[in-house]
Amino acid sequence: MIGQIIKVIKLLGLSRAVRMKRHHDRGLRYVRGYAACCCWWALLNEGILDKLAMQGRIDWPAFLQTYQGDKKVLEAVVEYLDGIGLLEQQNNTLKLSPDGRVLMAEPRGLLELLWAYEPCLGNLAELLQSKKKYGRDLERRITFVGQGSGRLCEQLPYPVMRRMILEQGSKMVLDLGCGDMALLSGLCRMNAEIRGHGIDNSAEMVQFDRNQLSQNDYGGRLTVQQGDMFHLPQLPRELPPVDCIAACDTFHEYLQDQQRLVELLKQLKQRFTQVRFVIGEFCLQDAAWLKRHKTAALEHHLFHQLSGQQIGSAPQWRRIFREASLEIVAEQVYDVIGHGYFALR
Ligand SMILES: C[S@@+](CC[C@H](N)C(=O)[O-])C[C@H]1O[C@@H](n2cnc3c(N)ncnc32)[C@H](O)[C@@H]1O
Repeated sequence: MIGQIIKVIKLLGLSRAVRMKRHHDRGLRYVRGYAACCCWWALLNEGILDKLAMQGRIDWPAFLQTYQGDKKVLEAVVEYLDGIGLLEQQNNTLKLSPDGRVLMAEPRGLLELLWAYEPCLGNLAELLQSKKKYGRDLERRITFVGQGSGRLCEQLPYPVMRRMILEQGSKMVLDLGCGDMALLSGLCRMNAEIRGHGIDNSAEMVQFDRNQLSQNDYGGRLTVQQGDMFHLPQLPRELPPVDCIAACDTFHEYLQDQQRLVELLKQLKQRFTQVRFVIGEFCLQDAAWLKRHKTAALEHHLFHQLSGQQIGSAPQWRRIFREASLEIVAEQVYDVIGHGYFALR
């Protein structure tokens, strides 16, 4: 190997050889990021990574033998992920590497969200050339929006929102655009008296939630219903009076028509007279700050722009709440993650 390297250096010259190697490494980051994501998603969606995370290791030849899909493709994917250090295949066992275990922890939501919006990236050429339009020809994968967003929100947004909800003494929470119901599930775990009802307009998302609820509905305290928040259906009769309306990352999907959001809030206040609101929303970060810090908000903005969504600024949200005659009782805006939480009455 050393001999070959010396040969290359003699042929190209030391500085050119070193520069070329550095440049390749820089390009490889992006190529590998894409290939790694695709391979990771494939194993995640097959349930293999969860199996590895839960069992610690699996007997690889035995697993391969019973695998129903294409064994050659699976072997190629595993060999690649082993090569780049996300899996470890040794002797007859397969396990997550330390880096792989990290990807299954906090960043998992990021990978799920990227998978949710992958149709936008996979169709970028057609979107650019106006051959396809988001909404008409392609959609995000909604259950992965719910799961990815739910998992990421568990890290800061939900703890803040749950505290706001519990501190105001709410007992019956209606969650608009409930996604995978993670906000409400956590509330049920924290407080044995709380009751939660989720509304989501996606039939697919609601079906996902029903499957979850069939495993645990917290003794009947957690329910879900398909519905459009702008045309809120009759709620189940057995629900106690709603004393809190929550919405996390749902309203910004309608920011192109702010007045519609103002009217929605007014109508909700009229229908549920004693209700408090706890809203979590993206708050636009300063562009220069973001360029310097390059957080995941950059990818998030891209997904939103490609799927026709807008990000509101904190002052914009305050204006919307004021126009709906709602008073801000408590507010926490975290510029560092571009998210804000508002308790309103
Ligand atoms: C970005 S996700 C947020 C999900 C969840 N609230 C969370 O915190 O992770 C937005 C959710 O709102 C739902 N949604 C969008 N428009 C809606 C509407 N008009 N009525 C009810 N749900 C809606 C979507 O289906 C999606 O599940």
